[in-house]
Amino acid sequence: MEAIPLAQPDITDLERRAVEEVLLTPTLSLGPKLPEFEALLAEAAGVRHAVAVNSGTAALHLAVRGLGIGPGDEVITTPFSFIASANAVLFEGARPVLVDIDPRTLNLDPARLEAALTSRTKAVLAVDVFGHPADWDAIEAIARPRGLAVIEDSCEAIGARYKGRRAGSFGDCGAFAFYPNKQITTGEGGALVTDSGELAALARSMRNQGRSAGGAWLAHERLGYNYRLSEINCALGVAQMHRLEDMLRRRAEVAEGYRAALSAIDEIELPYAAPDVEMSWFVYVVRLRAGFGQAQRDAVLASLRAKGIGCSNYFAPIHLQPFYRAMGWRPGDFPVTESVGERTIALPFFNALSRRQIEAVAEALAEAVAEAAASQESIPHKRAAHS
Ligand SMILES: Cc1ncc(COP(=O)(O)O)c(C=O)c1O
Repeated sequence: MEAIPLAQPDITDLERRAVEEVLLTPTLSLGPKLPEFEALLAEAAGVRHAVAVNSGTAALHLAVRGLGIGPGDEVITTPFSFIASANAVLFEGARPVLVDIDPRTLNLDPARLEAALTSRTKAVLAVDVFGHPADWDAIEAIARPRGLAVIEDSCEAIGARYKGRRAGSFGDCGAFAFYPNKQITTGEGGALVTDSGELAALARSMRNQGRSAGGAWLAHERLGYNYRLSEINCALGVAQMHRLEDMLRRRAEVAEGYRAALSAIDEIELPYAAPDVEMSWFVYVVRLRAGFGQAQRDAVLASLRAKGIGCSNYFAPIHLQPFYRAMGWRPGDFPVTESVGERTIALPFFNALSRRQIEAVAEALAEAVAEAAASQESIPHKRAAHS
């Protein structure tokens, strides 16, 4: 069987020409493509400003630092995410306070937020995981009256909507990311999006070694970084943004293809989308039903890989990563995250995935799941079925 990768960027002649045009000029950084890309990103988020940077992680770092979060502060966030969302808090010497997730949306569970507040809480950093927006009304209803800052990690959700509002527009600022597995890619890249002119100006300065707008090249007003995104990356991003709506539609079709092909497999649960949400499909993550464990999930991943099918365990909980454990977190701290995290299977997901490939993945998954189920006597519903 042909190999099917987990992810694959969607690059056309439009992108190739756009990059080549930049290469025919002498301006490879800080040129016209940067503001052009930023205007498209601000529009996509429905906010006034976008500050493009060279990764989603850099965007999150500028968000945390730009909002004045530092040593002694606590930031409430989720353990079920890519590691960078919690790391951004650590970069500034603040403490991530992890809160367990909603078992359906897999996002930070707002019902658990209040219990995590302390006098040191400075901000909430919630993630729109897998392209499903967090429950922003509930989060803002708790954060706003207390004067907490709110950061939206929308690195996986450009183009998603929550109650009609665009991902990236919630809280004080949002972050997008453009690694090649994302809905749009710049190779590497990210952006901070915000309505605040002050925060945008600060982020622009920190992105460029603390320089001021229009200031001398060797004058540095504050501590800054090199988080600049080159004109080559920005040109690629502009071309991708012009195709964003088409690509999101295509991703929704692929997700629907999977839903149809996988709905007969009893042992798995399919991704959930809340009724008031428009997904921006980033990945297609199914999970083995409750009662299955990590050993069976890992056996399914191994079986798929042996057939050349790309797959992954999105996400291994943040608090169980070695350096988080060294900070004191333990297995059992976040039961929902751990239970979900040991049963997830991210399947190949990209725009060019064909119906035939979806069917091949579904067939291989059904076989792998049946093998895993048969290998384990202790699955409650299987035992019941056999008795
Ligand atoms: C939720 C989340 N936050 C942050 C990031 C970091 O983005 P990047 O890999 O561009 O630094 C990612 C990307 O993988 C992500 O999925």
